[in-house]
Order: sequence, then structure tokens, then C-alpha cells
Amino acid sequence: MHTIRTTSPVEAARFIRNGGLVAFPTETVYGIGANALEAAAVARIFEIKRRPRDNPLIVHVANPDQIGALTIDLSEEAKHLISAFFPGPLTLVLRKDRHVPDVTTSGLATVAVRCPDPPLTREFLAACATPVAAPSANISGRPSPTSWQAVLDDLDGSIDCILEGPRARHGLESTVVDCSGALPLVLRPGAISLESLQEIVPEIRLSDERDVDAPRSPGMRHKHYAPDGFVVIIDDPNEIPPEGGPVGYIGMDLPSKTPRLIHALVAGSYAEYAYSLFDFFRACDARGISTIYAQRVTREGLGLAIMDRIERAAGASDVRRP
Ligand code: TXA
Ligand code: MG
Repeated sequence: MHTIRTTSPVEAARFIRNGGLVAFPTETVYGIGANALEAAAVARIFEIKRRPRDNPLIVHVANPDQIGALTIDLSEEAKHLISAFFPGPLTLVLRKDRHVPDVTTSGLATVAVRCPDPPLTREFLAACATPVAAPSANISGRPSPTSWQAVLDDLDGSIDCILEGPRARHGLESTVVDCSGALPLVLRPGAISLESLQEIVPEIRLSDERDVDAPRSPGMRHKHYAPDGFVVIIDDPNEIPPEGGPVGYIGMDLPSKTPRLIHALVAGSYAEYAYSLFDFFRACDARGISTIYAQRVTREGLGLAIMDRIERAAGASDVRRP
């Protein structure tokens, strides 16, 4: 298949309306979308990404007023979060309406909904004239793409179209909050911090180990965000062994005494660390770097999402170790 590249949201949307697959920019990462209400088109996303069928997709809408048609029984908390954060990098898990196909939600009674913020994304979604189911536009398990060039690496030739936009502003996925139960729970930390959610709904908490086994947070069981190289989490960059081949390092502190060849990214803020992380993983892969050191941060603000992503990347490395 030849993948068409365009900067026109209207041209890209035509492929969605014809049952095709389109990669498109959002403020978090690039997504790979299909008409959320067309089971056959959604099924192709799972095939092309090699995504486990039990990991449901997020449904994207151009406008928050489309949420009512996808869901039933919106809780008061959900309404507050929608008015505070939509459009923006927040995903809400809500009780689903019957007409959302099972393949989109992996057979769950809930549907995840998000309304991205960039004007280009909203023009595209509006021109699709249907909700768009979209996971991140990477092969399953790989780092999420923050640019259309990164989408090409993984999916060129296997999707219909790429809508070329700017580099994703956050570089890290949306925060996923389950609002379908008695208490709102953060299922995946992301671009919106737990603290800012709690300013609107104080009782929101992070889902813990107990909840992770529950069928309502299926994605958390799967391997994620892993570059080809092994990821090792360290407290201080001076822990990097001084001898050996080239390594990667990403963190907040500058290594002071490491003579070996290092491909380093020193971030000035958590926002910059988050923004750079997936891109950095991909750049290390392109250089054939086999070990990437990532500095631990405090689990506050964006630090929670950074730790989630680097721990998953390091966990995936552990699984591959002999
Ligand atoms: O920022 C983002 O959220 C990006 C952009 C493209 O919007 N999308 C994204 O999608 O990261 P994906 O598929 O890579 O991650 C979706 C997460 C998974 O952890 C999945 O398990 C969870 O959302 N999810 C989706 N539907 C769910 C549901 N009904 N119940 C619980 N979790 C759900
Ligand atoms: Mg993903």
C-alpha cells in the first residue's frame, strides 16, 4: 500500500470516511485513527499495530458535545472534568452507549473518550464527521511517535494516509481517568497532572495494584514504550559505568565525570524531560545504542508520568534479558 502524505485535514478525513486508516497529530502524540463506529476499519488498526485485542482504543471527538451520543449516565465528576479540561490531553473512561462497537472497546461496558486541543486536529476530526478511534501511531510496545516522521518509521506503507502537522507539544500521552465507577481513578498518568485533576475533583486518586488487575484497566498489563536498547533507571548520572561502548543518558542532571561516549539529553524541567523522552528513545535506536540510562525523578506533577513511562520501558528490558 502507498501511504499518502498531506497537510490538508479535509483530504486526510476523506480516507476515514471511506473506511481507511489515517495517522494524525494531537497535542500529546500522533494517533492512528479509523471511524470508531465501523468495526472492520477499527479491526485493521489492531492488525497493523499488532496490538493485543484486549487493549481498548480511545475515541476522539472534535467537540465535547459529541460525548453524549457515545455514553450513558455521565457522573457529576465526569461533567466537572469535561468542563475543566476538554479540549485537552485528558481521556475519560465512561459507560458506553450500545452503538459503539465491541472491537473499539475490547468488549468492555465502557468507552474512553478524548477531545484533543490543536485546531488542526479538531478540523480533521470535524471533517471526519464521525468519532475517530485512535491509539498511538506506533507498532505495539514501541515508543509513541511525537512527529509524523516517527510515524513513517513504524507505519509507512501499511496505512492510507498521514496528516502532517507539527511536533506534538506534550510528547507524552493523555492522562486516562476512569469515571465509570463510584470513585474516579487515574488509570494512566499523563500530560495532565494528578494535582491539577484534584483541584477540580479532590477525591481522585491513582489506581493501585489492586485496581490494575481489574478488567477495567486492561492496557496496563501490556509491555510498553520500549526502545531497542535496554533502559536502566539511575538516581545520579555519575552512576553510569565509566568504561564501555556508547550509551544514552536522559535526565535532569549533567553527568560530571563520565569520560565514555554518551548521547545525552539534559532537561531543564519535567515538561522538557517528558517532551523529549520518546524522541530520545527513538534517536538512541537510530544510533544503535544498546543501553539507555534514565534518571529517576520525583513523582510530582509530570514526574509521575515520566516515572510511569521509564519504569515500563525498563520493565520491558527486564523481560528481554536472558
Ligand atoms: O494521548 C493519547 O491518549 C494518545 C493520542 C493519540 O490520543 N492515544 C493513546 O492511545 O495513547 P493508546 O491506545 O496508546 O492508549 C490508550 C490507553 C490504554 O492504556 C488503554 O488500555 C486505555 O487507554 N483504555 C482505552 N479504553 C479504555 C477503557 N474502556 N477502559 C479502560 N482503559 C481504556
Ligand atoms: Mg500507545
